[in-house]
Amino acid sequence: MSLSPIADAAARRRTFAIISHPDAGKTTLTEKLLLFGGAIHLAGEVKAKGERRRARSDWMKIEQQRGISVTTSVMTFEYGGCTFNLLDTPGHEDFSEDTYRTLTAVDSAIMVLDAAKGIEPQTLKLFEVCRLRDIPIMTFINKLDREAKDPIELLDEIHDRLALDVAPMNWPIGMGQNFRGVFDLASRNVVLLTEGGGQGSEEVVPERSSSLGERVPASQLEELHEQLALVEGALPSFDLESYREGHLTPVFFGSALKNFGVRALLDGLGAYAPSPRPQPADQRTVEPGEDKVTGFVFKVQANMDPKHRDRVAFLRLCSGRFQRGMKLNMVRHGKPIAISSPIFFFAREREIAEEAFPGDIIGVPNHGQLRVGDTLSEGEPIRFTGIPNFAPEILMRVRLGDPMRAKHLKAALEDLAEEGVTQVFRPMIGAEWVVGVVGQLQLDVLKTRLDAEYNLPIDFESAPYITARWCDADDAKELDRFVQAKKASLASDRDGNPVYLARNNWDLNRVQEDFPKIRFTATRERH
Ligand code: G4P
Repeated sequence: MSLSPIADAAARRRTFAIISHPDAGKTTLTEKLLLFGGAIHLAGEVKAKGERRRARSDWMKIEQQRGISVTTSVMTFEYGGCTFNLLDTPGHEDFSEDTYRTLTAVDSAIMVLDAAKGIEPQTLKLFEVCRLRDIPIMTFINKLDREAKDPIELLDEIHDRLALDVAPMNWPIGMGQNFRGVFDLASRNVVLLTEGGGQGSEEVVPERSSSLGERVPASQLEELHEQLALVEGALPSFDLESYREGHLTPVFFGSALKNFGVRALLDGLGAYAPSPRPQPADQRTVEPGEDKVTGFVFKVQANMDPKHRDRVAFLRLCSGRFQRGMKLNMVRHGKPIAISSPIFFFAREREIAEEAFPGDIIGVPNHGQLRVGDTLSEGEPIRFTGIPNFAPEILMRVRLGDPMRAKHLKAALEDLAEEGVTQVFRPMIGAEWVVGVVGQLQLDVLKTRLDAEYNLPIDFESAPYITARWCDADDAKELDRFVQAKKASLASDRDGNPVYLARNNWDLNRVQEDFPKIRFTATRERH
């Protein structure tokens, strides 16, 4: 059976993100991936020193014209018959809820580890978000050209800390100064590291080739064979279904800096990573091959310039063929919006994009109508689910300089919460608002925007909570009993749902033990 043009375009899309801890090599790997995609002018531009990295696209023009700064960019490139959409997850000091939400818009992820460090805290946090949604993960163990941990130890660490099966796709030969290359488990070829640089730092030599002995010291080949015997006996081989279900991660070893092992990773992504998934909605599940366009907003980028109220909503397409000038219904309001100047994120210059397919991201300029979690639909008024709020990790009280403006503050906080800038909680006892974020940057943005856009100068005061959990129960009476008993630690979110504000982990464990019929959840669907 042949696929419809829409289903065919969708089947060729790979929409993914890279998750890593700062310095593991995400930027370097991104540059090399774009090189394979033919976006050569981008190499070296992805990371401009002292400047936020961004891809060259229509987007830059808009950025210049309107003074909008981009914290998440989308990089699109073609390789091996697939269209890859790489969504940047701002990491580092920029860590925010946007980082998490970006992961709701991808179909798979690459986890980059520094071979000397293994799994680091930020990798773990991002991994947990991927796991919530069963996003399949490929692992790239980077920096083999430096002294690294023992590869077997690294695989054990992934297995034990992430509770994932690991299937090595290649195996390193030496490390640091003695790094020679990798052995490819499927083809049984040795891929040697050469000093070509660019796209040509790899040379494939069959395992049986006589020249191998001249290129790699005998002791290293011996060690390779010993390790392979051990690894291939003890570890599962790659299993597509298990990877797609999020139970197994294929592992590639390499060096992004030397552009070594990157091609194998990209080939793996093209061959095995899932194409756009069917997207669950309140009424039914939407298949990517359907004719009508649907999509959801996973991020809103606001203009920090108080003179403008311009926003760009990042829309992940879930079905249909989107064309410039199309009218889509904004399901929350039931109103149509004409999308006359969408932003397409193509890495190649001079490309005038007129259409986009499931898995693609488009930027929709608007004046604040579009919010995170909104569904846009060409026909039916469905609403996509699966774009949750995440439990905040920093909770602060908001202190307003002028108490007469408390009403304005309420309205402004509710506005910004809907946009996804922060979460707001109203303690059941006490008058001060508590805001919750997952990263410091979000607090800075909140303060700046309250001042610049709403003329509300505020200060934050630390609140004695470490995190929040949404509370729910099958039996309304149980929930009520819990609320009455724990009022002093409870707040309402903007939809009026009870939220438990935990003072420490002990407190959180204790309340869960004391109230076994209450569900405490770390994410909540947006409505
Ligand atoms: P990030 O985006 O994950 O934060 O990491 P980034 O790519 O910026 O890499 C962090 C540092 O690690 C950079 O060095 C980069 O050159 C280096 N690096 C990345 N991949 C490899 C690799 O495969 N091997 C080796 N040896 N180094 C690698 P830097 O000195 O901090 O920055 P720069 O001055 O080189 O830009």
